Amino acid sequence: MYTLGVETSCDETSCAILKNYKVLSNITLSSLGEHKKYGGIIPEIASRAHLNNIDKVLNIALKQAGVHLRNIDLIAVTHKPGLMGALVVGLNFAKALSLSLNKPFLGVSHLHAHLFSSFLNDEKNFKFPLLGLVVSGGHTSIYRLGDFDKIKLLGQTCDDACGETFDKVAKALGYGYPGGAVIDRLFNPKYKNYFAFRCGRIGLNLSFSGIKTAVIYKKMEIEKKGILKESAKIRLISSFQEAAVGAIVQTILEAVKKHKIKRVICGGGVMANRYLRQKLADSAKEGIKFLIPSREYTTDNAAMVAGLGFYLYNKKGIKSNLTLKAEAN
Ligand code: KG4
Ligand code: ZN
Repeated sequence: MYTLGVETSCDETSCAILKNYKVLSNITLSSLGEHKKYGGIIPEIASRAHLNNIDKVLNIALKQAGVHLRNIDLIAVTHKPGLMGALVVGLNFAKALSLSLNKPFLGVSHLHAHLFSSFLNDEKNFKFPLLGLVVSGGHTSIYRLGDFDKIKLLGQTCDDACGETFDKVAKALGYGYPGGAVIDRLFNPKYKNYFAFRCGRIGLNLSFSGIKTAVIYKKMEIEKKGILKESAKIRLISSFQEAAVGAIVQTILEAVKKHKIKRVICGGGVMANRYLRQKLADSAKEGIKFLIPSREYTTDNAAMVAGLGFYLYNKKGIKSNLTLKAEAN
């Protein structure tokens, strides 16, 4: 069975073709370059870019997969959460295709699709219950999954998301937007405990806004004494990353202990972070297993949307009708 996935919740226009859970193509075009000068995503620019690019992205995805549009059996699309104008472009595109091809479609949650990403290309690994961790630019959430249609939120950030904090810290230090990948690249373990930064943790909830302020205050303190050198910036981001990653790992381990579930699926853009991946792998002991997607499926992509869509349709018979609405939150 061939599934077309469509993802337009933020700045990435993405289409993917899957044969069952095997990814045949996964094409993503980002409008990030158009937003960079504003230091963040401008929703109107993102929506217009989706409109301009979605046909092109679909055609490349079909061509690379070697599949004709008429052979698509199912269309899965992100319908929540995200930027309203951006979601509407993908959702209406999927509805129009469903209507014209006379094929079923279903809307999926972007966050649940991130959770699904470690199952791509892997049919044999579905064993519930699971714990789920999503760390992205917009969310930091911990879930209990009885199945992919039985997902319960256990904890989340009380303020900024983890990726958002990486972006804000990088921006404050002059590394531009987005900054997660820059911090990942510049991190030096020698300086990970140079400054004593901490993230807030209450049960399975986290807080990142305090650490962001602490890094900025420390930077200002250094600047009062002279020029902020590159070496000082590396010390700041290395100590920051140590604290942020440490808080996530500690919180998920606490969830494992509390809920007595030892298999954790992880997803979202911050899961591209090499130190976080390493720390999770290092914490996998006494039967605890972290299912971590390959890096290409961590940031926003349509393959994860198609994979979850196929699972929900194939295993649970779930589909949407044309009245389905986009939901920003
Ligand atoms: O999942 P995603 O593509 O979009 C949302 O759903 O939000 O995540 C984007 C976030 C951004 O904040 C970006 O800075 C962060 O993921 N990110 C990283 C890395 N690569 C992307 N954060 C830390 N280390 C990375 N290597
Ligand atoms: Zn995402």
